[in-house]
Amino acid sequence: MSLTNFPGSASSSPLDPSITKVTIPALAEMKRQGKPISALTAYDYATARLVDETGIDLVLVGDSLAMVVMGQDNTLAVTVDEMLHHTRAVRRAVRRALVVADMPFGSYHGTVTDGVANAVRFVKEAGAEAVKIEGPRVALVQALTDAEIPVIGHLGLTPQSVNRMGGYRVQARTVDSVQQIKADAKALEEAGAGVLVLEGIPREVAAEITAELTIPTIGIGAGPECDGQILVFHDMVNLSFAPKAKFARRYADAASLFRAAVEHYREDVEHRAFPSDEESYHLPSAVKKEMQGETSSVHPIKQLRKA
Ligand code: KIV
Repeated sequence: MSLTNFPGSASSSPLDPSITKVTIPALAEMKRQGKPISALTAYDYATARLVDETGIDLVLVGDSLAMVVMGQDNTLAVTVDEMLHHTRAVRRAVRRALVVADMPFGSYHGTVTDGVANAVRFVKEAGAEAVKIEGPRVALVQALTDAEIPVIGHLGLTPQSVNRMGGYRVQARTVDSVQQIKADAKALEEAGAGVLVLEGIPREVAAEITAELTIPTIGIGAGPECDGQILVFHDMVNLSFAPKAKFARRYADAASLFRAAVEHYREDVEHRAFPSDEESYHLPSAVKKEMQGETSSVHPIKQLRKA
């Protein structure tokens, strides 16, 4: 395969050359052109395929999977190996969107060297095209950029800091903290971050950061002025078994849909209404006849009864 024969500057999907792959530079271009960026989380092949096929620009294998897929109380327990497993499944499904892997708690909180080594695993072993890290970890962002790994920063309400924050609380609500988050955002951009997620901060603060940065911002609970928006897939379709957060919008009620389908199936099984004859395999008629012949020679009385 040649690396130099892609038509134009946009790279094609290796799986389908007719699809133009979303890249970090493509997202920057969207910001320049004022085109909103759509992003969603996904954790498995089926969902990631649906999300990608609808034209969502960025798919995040979020560590929120600890809560919505694994049923944990927060995101802290999910491991690098678990995140790799889900990132691989998503990567297999996605042809167009940028696939971003969330680095889990503990995988980049020690040395920069360890953080880079863990990020390399997401690229090499799972096919991630960028990694996301929480907090103003400027040295790590610089090192990842030097290692050719695109980085997405994440500031504001960073769920991996739940114990330090004392809960999931809206951040940047004082003059000092607003100045701090603005400085952190600028520092992450200067260190090489390609995109910045802003979570759980006042709309006015997100708007100022978005205006000051050249890299795109993607908001979740950060108001409409961000360059793009992201939601947790399970929140969006009512599969998270949690009260709806103020910032989340439910676009579908998959819980009701799935529940009704499962109830219907259970009833059908209990009433022997599933499977039907059409849903059953049948012996070829020649084999059936032969078997009936055998049966009639072995059990003539049974055959008589049938007739
Ligand atoms: O893990 C996640 O789903 C996230 C998004 C909410 C941004 O970090």
